[in-house]
Amino acid sequence: MDDNRLLAPRTAGLQVSALREILKVANRPGMISLAGGIPAPESFPLPIMAELTRSVLSRYGAAALQYDATEGFGPLREALTGYLAAKGISAATDEILITSGSQGVLDAIGKILIGRGDEVAIEAPTYLGALQAFNPYGPRYVCLEADDQGVLPDSLERVLAAGRIKFIYLVPTFQNPTGRTIDLARRVRIAETLQRHDALLVEDDPYSELRYMGSDLPSIKSLAPDHVVYVGTFSKILAPGLRVGYCVAPEAIRRWLIISKQGVDLHTSTLGQALAGEYLSGGHLERQLPLIRDLYRPKLKAILSALARYLPGGFTWSKPEGGMFVWVEGIRGLDTSAFYRAAIERNAAFVPGKYFYPGPNQGLETMRLNFTMATEENIDRAVKRIAESAQDFHQVDLRALR
Ligand SMILES: Cc1ncc(COP(=O)(O)O)c(C=O)c1O
Repeated sequence: MDDNRLLAPRTAGLQVSALREILKVANRPGMISLAGGIPAPESFPLPIMAELTRSVLSRYGAAALQYDATEGFGPLREALTGYLAAKGISAATDEILITSGSQGVLDAIGKILIGRGDEVAIEAPTYLGALQAFNPYGPRYVCLEADDQGVLPDSLERVLAAGRIKFIYLVPTFQNPTGRTIDLARRVRIAETLQRHDALLVEDDPYSELRYMGSDLPSIKSLAPDHVVYVGTFSKILAPGLRVGYCVAPEAIRRWLIISKQGVDLHTSTLGQALAGEYLSGGHLERQLPLIRDLYRPKLKAILSALARYLPGGFTWSKPEGGMFVWVEGIRGLDTSAFYRAAIERNAAFVPGKYFYPGPNQGLETMRLNFTMATEENIDRAVKRIAESAQDFHQVDLRALR
């Protein structure tokens, strides 16, 4: 069958993600993969899942298995109001929309806000899944300037002053892929800039609970409530397989998010939502979070010390206080894809950073390393092998780049 005849122009324009191929190779037996982006299975509260399921079924009976409101399962939305209030986000129950993962919010945002050629401001690099959600609608990406403390507020100011931006998409805390966090002073300035320009920010926050050191920072939502769609998820604090995410959006947008969701999946799995609600209101998250942080903290320390020990001169890397990723940058002119194969042959996988940019030939000298899946010993081994692959390339070609 001729798919060109069948496909809508917006579908035909989509690219197959080369990252999928990389992740396939990374899952080969014997490989130590720092390429994925998923939580360690040991972080899931497996021992209490049977008890949670029993209490959900006895409390709600058939209602936990029935169709439900598009906006979300009442008890979960209620539990979220208290959880969010403790984070400085005030949201009434009916201001919270439950979605199928935070990806469900990003897809709906793309659908209701982006027309072909509309400008969307992003960090570059940024979360690939957001680009995949937005791309079908044909946005033009405007990249904000950033450094180790995240987006530069002056850059946001300049971009908004031009007056064409539909919305801004940021992951302010322990960003995927860089692990970077926007500091407090910049959050305050970004909030003030959004308000002054009456602009809309989509604040994607899957990682702020995964803080292993340092102090919590306020969300930008808490600083500019009327100008931010706050996006959260249970994927990293409970289990991604349940597919429960949520958002708190200004009223004008929330209505359309709900209508859009009706056409996609009617509502998010009722049972998954009931479990997430019970996890929150029964105090289980409070008990599980320290375990998750204790699991990941030594892995973060292991990757940072391995990078310092093994990487050849000329490389720098982010030093996050949480999250799941470290971002490594080589000298300009380096292409990390050039030694990717060599690393794979040594049974160590990473993701070349170019995949996290909206355009071609960006970030060639960068790579993303995940530290949540491998053991500390394997993290050390993998970084050593990646460093050796870089070193081999170094000896052959890197001198010419200096
Ligand atoms: C920044 C960011 N946003 C959203 C998601 C999607 O998460 P989920 O749909 O499982 O909530 C991810 C997943 O890795 C992510 O890194």
